[in-house]
Amino acid sequence: MNSRTFELTNPATGVKSALPVRSGSIGPDVLDIAGIARDHNVFTFDPAFGVTASCESKITYIDGDEGVLLYRGYPVEQLATKSSFMEVAYLLLYGELPSTTELQTFNSNITRHTMINESLLRFFNGFHHNAHPMAMVSAVVASMSAFYHDSMDIHNPRHREIFSHRIIAKLPTIAAAAHKHSLGQPFVYPRNDLDYCSNMLSMFFAVPCEPYRVDPVAAQALDLLFILHADHEQNASTSTVRLAASTGTNPYAAISAGVSALWGPAHGGANEAVLAMLEQIGSVDNIPKYLAMAKDKSSHFKLMGFGHRVYKNFDPRAKIIREMCHKVLAKLGRTDNPLFELALRLEEIALKDEYFVSRKLYPNVDFYSGIIYSALNIPRSMFTVMFAIARTVGWVSHWLELIGDPGMRISRPRQLYTGAARRDYSEMAQRR
Ligand code: CMC
Repeated sequence: MNSRTFELTNPATGVKSALPVRSGSIGPDVLDIAGIARDHNVFTFDPAFGVTASCESKITYIDGDEGVLLYRGYPVEQLATKSSFMEVAYLLLYGELPSTTELQTFNSNITRHTMINESLLRFFNGFHHNAHPMAMVSAVVASMSAFYHDSMDIHNPRHREIFSHRIIAKLPTIAAAAHKHSLGQPFVYPRNDLDYCSNMLSMFFAVPCEPYRVDPVAAQALDLLFILHADHEQNASTSTVRLAASTGTNPYAAISAGVSALWGPAHGGANEAVLAMLEQIGSVDNIPKYLAMAKDKSSHFKLMGFGHRVYKNFDPRAKIIREMCHKVLAKLGRTDNPLFELALRLEEIALKDEYFVSRKLYPNVDFYSGIIYSALNIPRSMFTVMFAIARTVGWVSHWLELIGDPGMRISRPRQLYTGAARRDYSEMAQRR
């Protein structure tokens, strides 16, 4: 808390109160408005939480004007070039970079939790073959609470840690099972001799009838994408996880709520929508027509992969992914990628357009990620699942922070009621 205050005077009563200003380690100050209902009998009104800090957090910092993203203080660009997804996961969960031994132990804990209960595996047979994988993943994650009773006491720190390892380890297995179910192929069990991303590729693409060799270029690309998606402070799905968890519900239920929130096209579903949009645009000649639609408020068409609530400058993750697209496509020998060429032209044209310039709409993390996933042969319907696997690390870190806070209370927003005032029930015969 710093010593500054904002003075608030209630014009109706003349009552004055001082709202404390709170400062974080970096970033804008916040006004602590907790006392205003008591002092003035008013609530604040901030639909869609445009200016509301919902919690205090030490995990991730974003400066949207400067295009800065820090995990536990470390710039995402440095982590992207020097680190690995498992190391970033450790950093987000535990707050510090691991020593060699800590990382080895963490890796081994994650690796030993990759199998899922066979009964849980049979759930997939209950889904229609063309079920969206996000539907299967959110349902199976929620169902995990029916299997892992031995570690669900949220007040027990060791249970919380076991849950964290389990969910991070099992998400790729669940995702791969959903993928194999869609294809009608047999499930491929995890391999403990492989690293996190190589194992995931093996479960996705291996078949029992022939050996499968993981392409290290693909595993490395996936690892980098996972680092970039691992956390993003109080985004919609993370806030959903925190809100659900604040009720004291079991952590699988809370993470499943996060998966469902991520699915929407305004959030993690945008990566799938970007590819659909690029295919719809089809060629550079059509860009002006679609840009005009994106600007027309009556069309419901938005430039998917563009814009962000917090970034009013380049999303630093989009810059890294665009660069990575060039490298990955070259390494995989797929330089002739018409959708990537179209995306580059679309970005160039949109960034010169007054509508996008004046609203500070830049490409976000989802604009280029789908192009890389496609190059790795991951089907479009699985893109948001990929995002969910990576973001699980962020969700779990926020869940641990929330549950570990002795001051945790149930989250319960208020409202501005604009419905009918009190009225008496009318008998049927007296109604219009
Ligand atoms: N295409 C066209 N116009 C847009 C777009 C877009 N993609 N994004 C924002 N605008 C307009 C918006 O209509 C508004 O115009 P006006 O001032 O004339 O009313 C203005 O820009 C400000 O936007 P906003 O509605 O205040 O933005 P928001 O913070 O409510 O929404 C967003 C942010 C990401 C949901 C939105 O930009 C969007 O829908 N983008 C496309 C979907 C997308 O790419 N989502 C992924 C986000 S990043 C990854 C993640 O979070 O999972």
